[in-house]
Amino acid sequence: MDPERILVVDDEPNMAWLFSQAFAGDYEIVAASSGEQALELLRCLDIDLIMLDLRLPGADGIDTLRAARKHGFSGPVIVMTAFGEIKTAVAAMKLGAHDYVTKPFDMDELRLTIESSLRLSGEAGKTRHSSRVLDDVVHLRDMITVSPEMLRIFAMVERVSTSDASVLVQGESGTGKELMARAIHYSSPRKNKPFVPVNCAALPESLLESELFGYDEGAFSGARKRKPGRFEIADGGTILLDEVGDLPLAMQPKILRAAEEKVIERLGGTRRIPVDVRIVAASNRDLRREVNEGRFRQDLYFRLAVITVSIPPLRERKEDILVLASHFLQEFCSDLGRQSPSLSDSTTDALLAYDWPGNVRELKNAMQHLALLCDDSVVEPHSLPDWILLAEPSELARVAGDDPLKAPISLKESRRRAFTETEKRRIVEALRIFDGNRTRAAEYLGISRRSLQLKIKRYGL
Ligand SMILES: Nc1ncnc2c1ncn2[C@@H]1O[C@H](COP(=O)(O)OP(=O)(O)OP(=O)(O)O)[C@@H](O)[C@H]1O
Ligand SMILES: [Mg+2]
Repeated sequence: MDPERILVVDDEPNMAWLFSQAFAGDYEIVAASSGEQALELLRCLDIDLIMLDLRLPGADGIDTLRAARKHGFSGPVIVMTAFGEIKTAVAAMKLGAHDYVTKPFDMDELRLTIESSLRLSGEAGKTRHSSRVLDDVVHLRDMITVSPEMLRIFAMVERVSTSDASVLVQGESGTGKELMARAIHYSSPRKNKPFVPVNCAALPESLLESELFGYDEGAFSGARKRKPGRFEIADGGTILLDEVGDLPLAMQPKILRAAEEKVIERLGGTRRIPVDVRIVAASNRDLRREVNEGRFRQDLYFRLAVITVSIPPLRERKEDILVLASHFLQEFCSDLGRQSPSLSDSTTDALLAYDWPGNVRELKNAMQHLALLCDDSVVEPHSLPDWILLAEPSELARVAGDDPLKAPISLKESRRRAFTETEKRRIVEALRIFDGNRTRAAEYLGISRRSLQLKIKRYGL
């Protein structure tokens, strides 16, 4: 039998190394340095057991455990705690962790704990392949926006939805690239066929190749049965090559071939298997720069970027902040069966003044925090997560020039300011792109030359 696979989730890189040294030959070790990455790996790989550190950056161990269970991971989870964290460990056990171990480990004890957890879960009749978590089904309607730039993107996506053109979705982390990719799939004629995401950054090169293309029996030692790859699974549907900028150079010609010839070969296989797959790629890096710097093949770039969608960061579409905030707050509150609180003016100001480096994902987390922790019917700024309040005031707040706590401004006014800010920024950007040529900048912005001139004057640009 293949060795069982253990996912070690710890932001301390030595930990995975320690496991792979200690259990070489007994178990296969895969490592994740954050909860988010762990969930990603659970989606791509069959995992038999999770070793979970409770203190993680971003989503902590408890959140990660909850999310893994919610998404259907039913295998054993062993929590790793530092001395003195027993209380959290107990909370984790209540959420369905099998056991806990205290750092620093006694290796023999650790081995016993792992063995017995795996044996117990094996007896419970769980087969290996049921451990992979299910993807959330998301539809176009889940993506909401009021930003003109985003609406323009939506319109473009809808226009190309009936074609099979490859789409490259670019944007900072948390801007909604995956959601956009799903929207592209679910608004296409392929919507009743699979949407298959693959995170190109999460897997080491050797695993990535067999994930993508599959293998035939006997392709390498341990390949007992044939296994279809993700391209085959996506047949008739859409494959999302997520974090495509991290695709190892050696893999790139293989993807190019699949995209151009629409055939793949399994590892160790001899047959050419036809696949009908639409490719959507996502990247939080500027792929063109990767090409210029020799890290990404130009031919593949042109094949993937037939249509490019660039999702602007949240701080450049401030008009979306409050819309998304109330949407998420309502959603989380209704999950919890409680009435959604309203946001005071100073709170909306604080949300608008913040830069949101983690974009929509960060905003969503902040609203979950409020839904869980704030019992008031009106949310005041002090209930917001600290990191938002302690952040340096952003450009918007400096432009607004007043202390929102002392001089409350209305929601309408804050929306107006956010809108003005975005508009100003886009005008400056357009003028820069077209070297100050107002006719072309106006064309690009979709307004008349005259109204562009008026705006330049009004904003003193
Ligand atoms: N316009 C939107 N409307 C509603 N929800 C959104 C929107 N944009 C993003 N989200 C939500 O924000 C979270 C982050 O989105 P997503 O995972 O698609 O981002 P991403 O760009 O792929 O991030 P990363 O680069 O980190 O992988 C998700 O929970 C998603 O549902
Ligand atoms: Mg993503």
